[in-house]
Amino acid sequence: MSSNSGLELVDRDEDGVDRAFRADVLMGLSEAQKAIPARWLYDDAGSQLFEDITQIPEYYPTRAETEILTARGAEFAQSIGPDRAVVEFGSGSSVKTPLLLRAIEPAAYVPLDISGDFLRAAAADLSAKFPGLPVHPVEADFMRKVALPNDVADMPKLGFFPGSTIGNMVARTAVDLLRTMRDTLGEGSQLLIGMDLIKGTDVLEAAYDDAAGVTGEFNLNLARRINRELDGTIPVDDLRHVARWDDDFARIEMHLEVQRDMEFSVAGRDFVMTKGETIHTENSHKFDKRSSATLLLAGGWTPMQRWTDEKGRFSLILAEASIPRSAP
Ligand code: AVJ
Repeated sequence: MSSNSGLELVDRDEDGVDRAFRADVLMGLSEAQKAIPARWLYDDAGSQLFEDITQIPEYYPTRAETEILTARGAEFAQSIGPDRAVVEFGSGSSVKTPLLLRAIEPAAYVPLDISGDFLRAAAADLSAKFPGLPVHPVEADFMRKVALPNDVADMPKLGFFPGSTIGNMVARTAVDLLRTMRDTLGEGSQLLIGMDLIKGTDVLEAAYDDAAGVTGEFNLNLARRINRELDGTIPVDDLRHVARWDDDFARIEMHLEVQRDMEFSVAGRDFVMTKGETIHTENSHKFDKRSSATLLLAGGWTPMQRWTDEKGRFSLILAEASIPRSAP
């Protein structure tokens, strides 16, 4: 992917292969329980398929979160106040941002994204919708501390992290990210974060295994991507999408399950899988009031207010940067 800024965040070898992708796939396929980090689901095709997922009837999180953002604008304005710089982590192609910006009247908008293309599209879109609002896009990996533009240095910040993306991370990674966000945003900042809620297994599993098969395509696209970008020979037609609720870990797991014994190669390395074995491709952790509070507190954020949609499926939590103090 090219970048107008001249800054290329993806490290490619002489053949144009993304080195981190290859390393993650080769390592992940070598483990006893094969597993590939979920971030690799989101190439162009995967990002489009995720946009499609947000429209399917069974996938409730996007609609539930949008409902909260639409219904609770006045309360956000009350608790957040005007004139903050809104820093969005992973701006993607969000339709949620305008709802927030309209509610709180911020002084600036700083979208952060690792994909320069998405970032510029999102920034242009927002500028058109909010002509008076200064927009300062930053192409960055927000898993690390980001240096924010000087223009917003003296403004109080509101971090915005919708979508329950935090749920894709295991607890220690999620805590690392929350602490990094606190470093990026600084003292006196607030964070508005989306966290999907624990609910009945049937509803959860249907949301990740829809009748139209869109989520299945999203999952299988990872295998197609491996074949295309890493010179792989995975027999994609003999993989099956599986989504299952793990109650001990409070998460939906997505797997690709092999339907027959198979051999394939990826980037010159050979792999063997037996019928019924799986490649673990994504976790989507779900929360309740207490587990979300514990996670936020561990990450240096004190929960202040919590909103859910009418049906109680999804939560948006407003937290403020905790002040380190001696504790009993
Ligand atoms: C984009 C991480 C919020 O976990 O619900 C949707 C991704 N995976 N269907 C989620 C996803 C399968 C989604 N997030």
